[in-house]
Amino acid sequence: MYRQIIRPLLFQFDPERIHHATLRMLRGVLSLPLAGFAFDFKFNLQDQRLEKKLWGLTFKNPVGLAAGFDKDGVLADLWKHLGFGFAELGTVTPRPQPGNPRQRLFRLPADQAIINRMGFNNAGVAAMAKRLSKLDKGDLIIGANIGKNKDTPNENAVDDYLYCFEQLFDYVDYFVVNVSSPNTPGLRSLQEKEPLTRLLGTIQENNYARNTSRPLLLKIAPDLSDEQLNDVIEVAAATRLDGLIATNTTISREGLITPEPILQQIGNGGLSGAPLTARAGDITRYLHAKTRGTIPLIGVGGIMNPTQAKERLSDGASLIQLYSGFIYEGPGFVRNILEAIVHS
Ligand code: FNR
Repeated sequence: MYRQIIRPLLFQFDPERIHHATLRMLRGVLSLPLAGFAFDFKFNLQDQRLEKKLWGLTFKNPVGLAAGFDKDGVLADLWKHLGFGFAELGTVTPRPQPGNPRQRLFRLPADQAIINRMGFNNAGVAAMAKRLSKLDKGDLIIGANIGKNKDTPNENAVDDYLYCFEQLFDYVDYFVVNVSSPNTPGLRSLQEKEPLTRLLGTIQENNYARNTSRPLLLKIAPDLSDEQLNDVIEVAAATRLDGLIATNTTISREGLITPEPILQQIGNGGLSGAPLTARAGDITRYLHAKTRGTIPLIGVGGIMNPTQAKERLSDGASLIQLYSGFIYEGPGFVRNILEAIVHS
């Protein structure tokens, strides 16, 4: 029903407006009495075989919501009713910021893809901390994906990440350092060895000075060369990183069916969805082999059907995340994946 009726209807409208309207609608519906139960009945799958223990946390299943979908955590406590085992909120920055001018989100239906140049639009870390402090999140694992404000120069980026880390420390289960978005100018140069070591090292110092530490992960771009991936592995080991998330969106436009003039018209941004499947899978396998499985991986990028979800897990990902697949396949997508995993 989603693909035949609801998706064609939703795809008539501006993608960003529909996105926010859908979040508001879900929030409204799920606040009705018994709606949580009804959603659980339809979209959730409770099965002991899906459980995954990692970093001392118990994930009730390995399928998570990828960062960027719920940037401010407005549905933080509700993603569990759509079947997710965990949700990564953000990217959040210290101060609120509007992001890039609209239009900045584009669907490419012929390619089952999305291009976005949102630019970390978010309400700021204080708003997220306040919201999360009031939540009863139940058994849903929540991650915070943290970034820097656009007007913070890279030399001071550490301060921004550290600020978000400290503000959210008490409210989330794990952290992700995002230096891989293509939509904040210069951000991705923080993936280079020296600045990356300094950034992650500083956060870990703060992390380990506490009574309990939080798992710290790094999200990487799919556009890194093997050499850069090797550097990331080295830095991860040196800074005792708990995991890597592969991958963010790509700046590549290779192999798309969408005609060149339309791509030109859309302009810059990160590409996600089906065109990313192969590259994100390759990187997952590469990292898994190179680290001999010593660094847990979260696989994200181009998971558009249950078979690809299972493949990504067998590529070496301990957990997976969805974004574009969830847009194209609809709310039943998580359960379909969970059923496929259980029955494999
Ligand atoms: C994203 N993604 C993203 N990632 C991140 O770390 N922080 C962010 O704020 C965002 N924002 C964002 C907005 C939009 C509109 C999209 C489509 C994507 C990237 C996302 O989490 C994921 O890594 C990629 O989209 C690849 O996965 P899919 O979409 O191919 O499943």
